[in-house]
Amino acid sequence: MKKAILKAESLSKSFSSGGALQHVLKNIDLQLCPGDFTVIMGASGAGKSTLMYALSGMDTPTLGTITFGDTVISGLSQDALAVFRRRHCGFVFQQIYLIESMSVMDNVLTAGLLINRDKNALIARARKLFAAVDISEATQKKFPTQISGGEAQRVGIVRALINEPEVLFADEPTGALNSKTGLDVLNTLTAFHDQGQSVVMVTHDIRSARRGNRILYLKDGSVLGECRLGRYVHGDSNRHEKLNAFLSEMGW
Ligand SMILES: Nc1ncnc2c1ncn2[C@@H]1O[C@H](COP(=O)(O)OP(=O)(O)O)[C@@H](O)[C@H]1O
Ligand SMILES: [Mg+2]
Repeated sequence: MKKAILKAESLSKSFSSGGALQHVLKNIDLQLCPGDFTVIMGASGAGKSTLMYALSGMDTPTLGTITFGDTVISGLSQDALAVFRRRHCGFVFQQIYLIESMSVMDNVLTAGLLINRDKNALIARARKLFAAVDISEATQKKFPTQISGGEAQRVGIVRALINEPEVLFADEPTGALNSKTGLDVLNTLTAFHDQGQSVVMVTHDIRSARRGNRILYLKDGSVLGECRLGRYVHGDSNRHEKLNAFLSEMGW
């Protein structure tokens, strides 16, 4: 087995709500390997987003350790975490927030310049990424209000990848999109994964989940089970059956 890129040990997260403590993540142990496309599935409220936030250093665990590469991120201050995230993690959410006063290209470059990269190298990388997600040069010059929701989501993926993150984290990336544009986004994620990008995606959508090669099923803050699938191939009915069988076993 390859050395884990991300490790959670005895991870717990609790929130206090109305005086009572709500245990949202319960003693989770987990290892993610480089090159994996890990999908976190489960019903709404199972703790999927909370788990993704803890793994990516967007939030700190109540108990337990998160090791990202060689760094124990669960011990870092908020400021140090922010710097760490910028360098090592990419994020895609259901809603992509772009700066409206900047062109699509400048939105992406700004994310890169935050960590002081060479501007020409950044432009070259942005162009390559835009080409990979089918965003034309004309669209790169447009402003966020002039592009469609599907285009915005693909721009969001480019922005998330501009700093060559070790892991791309996506939380319900197709949740706000129609079927066709959602499919474009999934194909984009699959294409980057095929080139070696590690991905962690939260979803409660089975069509999205099929893209992963490892599916973790979360229930009430614990990993109830996991299923390993091979590399995604379009229209592989065995894969679909295997995933369906796993999910029905999980009570999906
Ligand atoms: N910041 C927070 N404060 C209080 N409760 C929270 C917070 N974040 C999440 N929760 C609670 O944790 C539970 C799991 O939430 P979440 O991880 O968003 O679930 P999922 O992504 O699986 O739908 C929910 O009951 C939610 O209300
Ligand atoms: Mg969620």
